[in-house]
Amino acid sequence: VPRRPLLIANWKMYKTVPESTAFARELARRLDEWTGWDELLDVVLCPTAPALWSLHRVLARTGVGVGAQDGVPGTEGAMTGALSMYLVREAGAAWCLVGHSERRRLFGETDAVIGAKVAAAQAAGLCPVLCVGETAEERSAGATDAVVRRQLDVLGDEPGSLVVAYEPVWAIGTGLTADPEEVGRVAALVRTSLTGRWGTAGGAVRVLYGGSVSAATLGGFLAQPSVDGALVGGASLRLDEFWRLARIAAEAAPSANPPSGA
Ligand code: 13P
Repeated sequence: VPRRPLLIANWKMYKTVPESTAFARELARRLDEWTGWDELLDVVLCPTAPALWSLHRVLARTGVGVGAQDGVPGTEGAMTGALSMYLVREAGAAWCLVGHSERRRLFGETDAVIGAKVAAAQAAGLCPVLCVGETAEERSAGATDAVVRRQLDVLGDEPGSLVVAYEPVWAIGTGLTADPEEVGRVAALVRTSLTGRWGTAGGAVRVLYGGSVSAATLGGFLAQPSVDGALVGGASLRLDEFWRLARIAAEAAPSANPPSGA
């Protein structure tokens, strides 16, 4: 089964609620004029938590998904400042980023915490987007594969809805994009790890690349057979740029390139 390209915008701590809503409205307006886009690719916006509900309202009938950037296990409780996966779902999101390197680094999230969040997201009916990737130090020590395998080890034995985003930490927000073939190699390693764990269900999981993705570089990553889409920070903040990424992703869709003779 071909995996449909998936383009996810991670807005991090950018955009006010009105700015987020205005972006979503304009995106919806443009997609409305692009017949059949939703057969070519999936698009998800991950705004700040206060904008989730508003984006859900604006995008509900468009086919564009809404995702949160984080969530914690549990439903409700005495946990000042926390937002549960359950409440994320209630706010209209169907997706949730988990284990982004900024959460690991700035908020001290460990693999154990991240594993619990993946399971909680799945239990709440969300599709977790598990972010993995090595730091510059780990890369120069030749530890990339071991780090990525370890970060995937948080997954349980039972298959669940999941996306994995390979984001080398040194490529995030730096303008340094990884070499597409090297990304393809690591994405293939992710795939092997998933199928080893989950069998054919692991083959259905989409593996994305993230880290300074732009309209100039996206095509090169999507040309890798093991890369199914992108998780985009900076280049997702301006609609014209994000729109270009969506057009490029659509061109990479399997249904946009039927085998000759089909
Ligand atoms: P940039 O695209 O800004 O490098 O951010 C990548 C990222 O962290 C997406 O989650």
